[in-house]
Amino acid sequence: MSGSEKKIPNHIAIIMDGNGRWAKKRGLPRTMGHRAGAKSLKKILTHAGELGVKHLTVYAFSTENWKRPQKEVDTLMKLFKEYLKNEKNTMMKNGVRLMVSGKKEGVNKELLEEIEKTEKLTKDNTRITLNIAFNYGGRSEIVDAVNKIIKDGIAEITEESFSKYLYSDIPDPELLIRTSGELRISNFLLWQIAYTEIYVTDLAWPDFNEAELEKALNTYMKRERRFGGLINEK
Ligand code: FPP
Repeated sequence: MSGSEKKIPNHIAIIMDGNGRWAKKRGLPRTMGHRAGAKSLKKILTHAGELGVKHLTVYAFSTENWKRPQKEVDTLMKLFKEYLKNEKNTMMKNGVRLMVSGKKEGVNKELLEEIEKTEKLTKDNTRITLNIAFNYGGRSEIVDAVNKIIKDGIAEITEESFSKYLYSDIPDPELLIRTSGELRISNFLLWQIAYTEIYVTDLAWPDFNEAELEKALNTYMKRERRFGGLINEK
């Protein structure tokens, strides 16, 4: 293993799955699972910042999540707005820059305003970027990028120039964590995860805590990242 594999990842992406099952197991409404999930996010963001992670991307609402009952969709919108309002000061204190990746269509005006306000307020913070994927789909992101390229009249692109047309220009994640055991990508960061290491835990997102994050990081740091090359290549 070379030295670089031992480093804390610069960018971690998380599929925060299992809120609904967590709540059901406790006889609670699914919305309570999402509330507990928001608390987990707060803890993990703080700890990731303390460990030196520079970017954290979390999947909070997919373009497919509109199919859920209206009440649950409304709760997720409300929770996001509350999260931004309540966490603003902590973000400023902890050097968190907020970014939101996804489509604006369908998202209510008050939430969009809160997002814009928080992005503006935190734009000069440099300790860690919290990139919330909201109304996000990996295929939509790629199609939107292609449409922007066509609009710009670009005739030829490279992988590097294509990346610049994606929703955010943060570097690709080295580690993707998925909670709650499913072994799929669910339309998350399709372009960016080409060489990302994947870590899946059976724990539901509300049960994922600081110690579990460290466990995921320790597993990642033991992995051999080869990027299509050979082990021990000189
Ligand atoms: C997946 O669990 C989770 C979501 C669709 C929403 C994630 C939202 C949060 C963690 C709340 C915090 C969010 C913000 C924006 C601050 P699921 O509901 O699919 O769980 P299940 O598979 O057990 O039903």
